Amino acid sequence: MKIAIAGLGTVGAEVACQLIHHHSTITSRAGTEMTVTAVSARNPDRDRGFSMDGIAFEQDPVALAARDDVDVVVELIGGDEGPALELIEAALTAGKSVVTANKALLAKHGARLAALAEANNLHLMGEASVAGGIPSLKMLREGLAGNRISRISGILNGTCNYILSTMETTGRGFDDVLAEAQDLGYAEADPSFDVDGIDAAHKLALLGAIGFGTTPDFGGISISGIRSVSALDISFAEQMGYAIRLLAIVEKHDDQVMSTVQPTLVPLGSGLANVDGPLNAVEVHGEPLGSVIAMGPGAGAGATASAVLADMIDIAAGRAALFFGGPAKDLTAPVKAAIDHSSCYYLRLTVVDRPGVLAEITTVLSEHGASVDSMLQQGHGDDNGDTVEIVLTTHDVNSSSMTDAITAIHALDAVTETPTAMVIAASS
Ligand SMILES: NC(=O)c1ccc[n+]([C@@H]2O[C@H](COP(=O)([O-])OP(=O)(O)OC[C@H]3O[C@@H](n4cnc5c(N)ncnc54)[C@H](OP(=O)(O)O)[C@@H]3O)[C@@H](O)[C@H]2O)c1
Repeated sequence: MKIAIAGLGTVGAEVACQLIHHHSTITSRAGTEMTVTAVSARNPDRDRGFSMDGIAFEQDPVALAARDDVDVVVELIGGDEGPALELIEAALTAGKSVVTANKALLAKHGARLAALAEANNLHLMGEASVAGGIPSLKMLREGLAGNRISRISGILNGTCNYILSTMETTGRGFDDVLAEAQDLGYAEADPSFDVDGIDAAHKLALLGAIGFGTTPDFGGISISGIRSVSALDISFAEQMGYAIRLLAIVEKHDDQVMSTVQPTLVPLGSGLANVDGPLNAVEVHGEPLGSVIAMGPGAGAGATASAVLADMIDIAAGRAALFFGGPAKDLTAPVKAAIDHSSCYYLRLTVVDRPGVLAEITTVLSEHGASVDSMLQQGHGDDNGDTVEIVLTTHDVNSSSMTDAITAIHALDAVTETPTAMVIAASS
């Protein structure tokens, strides 16, 4: 199998190095000679850790699709439009299968590109696009193929998980830990895709599509990131028996699908609470399985290259699955759940420390159908008028009722700052 690699950055250079330096192992696993014949990057002169001798260099990545000495194109440039998309379309049109790690592109164009691949008897593969080194798409699509999937939840962004778990172990604030994550290379200079939940949502759109046979629906995901999670929230959550994680969840209610990416309290000791640092995890619930959780490195050169290599070996060995598990033309449009979902909530309030305030708050909550499960207060004001932090957890309440209750609580004179609310994960 003659391979072209477009993009020789963190992932692309590692894929090329693995293919070249571990050629005999990979070739024997694939059952056929695996050779890098052509590459593309912006800078032709940079040392990428392998010898370019005998490998053609194309300045224009799209030119790789037209080369006679290429069977499979590996797209590792990134971006949901531009050269990455042009290259994939050109390759699939020119009779070359494609492997990519590009979640943003697959979440947006995956259904159309998979249909193009299938129409031309080719493969579109993207294991590395979700949860890096965890074979999450393969697990869902192949290992769990016999199940009726009800819920997929995941910690899908290593940057957010590193920030939240470091805040938890050190007590430091979000900005401080984000700066450290940037220094360590876990977070980009512009961290918004990660910390605002966009990256996790791209991955969730793909997991939901494979799990439920729907077209990827990034636009249907309710997304909130981790910028508003404070060291105080992490400490309160811990005192109440929880860790805070950015959870991506897609679940099916009858024929409707609900997808959320949001900071969520998960019980300490649960599988997801034990996912620390830059790790990822994917948990799948289905029948007759029950549930399974897979955890591992979600990003980085080695983990991502591992998934890219597996896709290439599957193509070479003739066992590559359809990207969505079934034909792309059979994917249905997801029906976004209109169901008012019921959850337990964590609510942190900054309030004036005077008698009667708690009663005002619990009255508003009960008027909206929410009852208090537990409460914590930090500190006591010395003078009437000082503020204190209080945290309440509620029993199950509908999300719309909780939204209304929070608005009403915020309007109380005694509440001095915007309340912080987070969902508490259902124990499963
Ligand atoms: N990094 C990870 O841990 C990770 C994990 C999972 C998925 N992914 C995905 O993998 C893909 C690659 O990520 P990465 O981290 O390896 O990115 P990266 O380090 O920024 O590398 C991008 C590569 O693309 C090349 N490139 C950019 N524009 C180009 C153009 N117009 N023509 C030719 N080459 C071009 C760059 O060339 P130069 O080197 O010459 O500038 C560079 O080699 C992305 O889709 C990303 O979402 C990455």
